[in-house]
Order: sequence, then structure tokens, then C-alpha cells
Amino acid sequence: MDDDERLVSGEPESEKEASIERSLRPAFLSEYIGQDNIKQNLSIYIEAARQREESLDHVLLYGPPGLGKTTLAMVIANEMGVAIKTTSGPAVEKPGDLVALLNELQPGDILFIDEIHRLPKIVEEMLYSAMEDFYVDIVVGQGPTAHPVHFPLPPFTLIGATTRAGGLSAPLRDRFGIVEHMAYYSVVDLQEIVNRTAGIFNTVIDSDGAHEVALRSRGTPRIANRLFKRIRDFAQVKQADHRITRVLVDRSLQLLKVDSIGLDQTDIKLLKMMIEYYHGGPVGLNTLAANIGEEADTVAEMTEPYLMQIGYIKRTSRGRVVTAAAYEHLGYERPTDQS
Ligand SMILES: Nc1ncnc2c1ncn2[C@@H]1O[C@H](COP(=O)(O)OP(=O)(O)O)[C@@H](O)[C@H]1O
Ligand SMILES: [Mg+2]
Repeated sequence: MDDDERLVSGEPESEKEASIERSLRPAFLSEYIGQDNIKQNLSIYIEAARQREESLDHVLLYGPPGLGKTTLAMVIANEMGVAIKTTSGPAVEKPGDLVALLNELQPGDILFIDEIHRLPKIVEEMLYSAMEDFYVDIVVGQGPTAHPVHFPLPPFTLIGATTRAGGLSAPLRDRFGIVEHMAYYSVVDLQEIVNRTAGIFNTVIDSDGAHEVALRSRGTPRIANRLFKRIRDFAQVKQADHRITRVLVDRSLQLLKVDSIGLDQTDIKLLKMMIEYYHGGPVGLNTLAANIGEEADTVAEMTEPYLMQIGYIKRTSRGRVVTAAAYEHLGYERPTDQS
């Protein structure tokens, strides 16, 4: 199955979903739910930068898809009262593209580069001086008339987002003054996000219902909102008063094949395959991916992180292993040679 079709994938499904998401995005830190540590740190850095009337230090946000990195970048821009320009690593193909982006910035503005680990190397190298000393050296002209030009930039803030902790080169990583790791959200925070979304959509959900959605959202706001929207459709069609209750959530998610802790068919296929064909592992990433017909990157970035977070898969030097907790959840007898 293509990952875009996964109901519980952290990635946006379509342009339509992306546009609904924009309407759901909190605009300020005070509306941004959870990630308390990050919010606390950022509010201090933002206040200090504003007092000094300086641009905010460069910010790197790490974390799985759907945890609110793009949202946070927009929030930072609003809190700083500056404009933000958005692009992504693969979209900046050549140094000239980067210069064009930087050239449009006013002092203090933010350049947001999503998937920054996918920037081409020559563009990345050009960023070093831009970030450190606010200039780029570019070559103008071709052949014998080619000559270097020193191009000063206004002070700006680069915000980079990446799903891969290890995917960034050390020289780039070192140039970010602020590095924050986004964590999966607690059930309490997700419940608050579901309630907020329900309010925006003018839908009534009771607290048991919101709790149940939160339990099944893999710690991920994007998934919570997506499940909510599907359940709201069920409520509208199946429930006379359109009210979302725990029973309705449960019925809807059963039909959508999302299990009691938010695992979908892909997760279950992966775990069962490891248990049935490999006695629980260790199995190498590439073997795993090939067996369930997914790209290794997709498994490593989207499927595995949550299974590791909940302790169903462990990474060892010889490959991935399934834990006893996963055996139990899927109704297999616990393996005897494992603790
Ligand atoms: N802390 C949060 N509070 C409320 N809603 C959030 C929060 N984080 C994310 N969301 C919601 O989840 C959606 C996906 O977030 P996004 O910033 O696009 O994630 P990422 O860029 O990490 O993939 C947003 O549209 C927003 O509605
Ligand atoms: Mg994003």
C-alpha cells in the first residue's frame, strides 16, 4: 500500500487536507498545545531577541511527521512579528534558488526550510556563510568573464525542520543556535487538540469520545485531526444528534481498521511478519521493508518510530526485534527466550 493512503500516516494526504490543516493551525505559542519544554525555551529566546531588536537565532526542529514543526515555525514568525518564507530541501535545487529566496528577506524575517536534510550539498554549503555571517559568495557570469561577487544579506532566521535526527551533516547542525526535539504528544494533550478541533468544526464530542480518539492517534496531532474528521462524518450520518461518543469513535475506527492503540494494517503486517517468519527478529531494515512492500526510508521514518516509542520494536546492533509487549497485543503467546 502506498503510504499516502495510510489513515495513520503522519504525512498530509492531499492538498485538501493541507488546506484544512492551515485553518486548524494555532497562530501563537499560547494556543500551541503540548511540547511545554520547547514552548518555554522558545518564549524566552523570542522575548530576548525582541528586546535586543535582533533576529532570532537559527532554529532546528527535529521530529516525526505531523507533530507540529511547520505549525511551530509559523507560530515563531507570528510571535516575532516577522514575515516567513517557506520552502523545502528538494525544492532548492541550485545555489541560485537559495540566493533568490534570501534576496527577498527583510531584516529579521524567517526562511523556513522543511525537509532540510534533503538540501543538495552545494546549496547546503552556501548556507554556512549565510547563517554564520549573513553573506553569500556567488559566481556571476560564465567562462572567462566569470567572477566572484560578495553578496551581503540582511540578518535573518533560518528555521529548518527534519524528520531524521541523523540525516543532517555536522557543519550544518552546528550552525543552529536553537535545536529542539519534538516529542510524541501525551494523551492529555491530544485530547485537548481534539477538543479544539471539534470546536473549530462546530461539532460536539464528549470527553470519553475525545479521550478515545487521543488514545488512537499515535501521539500525533495530524492523525488526531484526521481521525476526528472521519469520525465526524460517521456521527453526521449514523448518529441522530450528531454527537461524538466513545462508542461511535470505537465503531468508526473499527470500520477504518485502526486498532485500540492506533495501529493500522501496515503496522500489524510488519509486526506479524517479524513474529511469524523471523521468530521476532533480529531482522534488518531492508529485509523488513522488502517483506511488507515498503521503501526502507518509509519504514524507518514513519512506521518504526512510533512502534519503538511504545516499546513494540527495539533496535539492536543486529537488526530490529519485536518485544513481548507486541506479542501480547497481537494475541501471540509470549516468546519464552525473551524478557
Ligand atoms: N501543538 C499543537 N497544537 C494544536 N494543533 C497542532 C499542534 N501541532 C500540530 N497541530 C495540528 O497538526 C497539524 C499538522 O502539524 P504540522 O505543523 O503540519 O506538522 P509537521 O510539520 O511536523 O509535519 C496542523 O495543521 C495542526 O492543526
Ligand atoms: Mg511540516
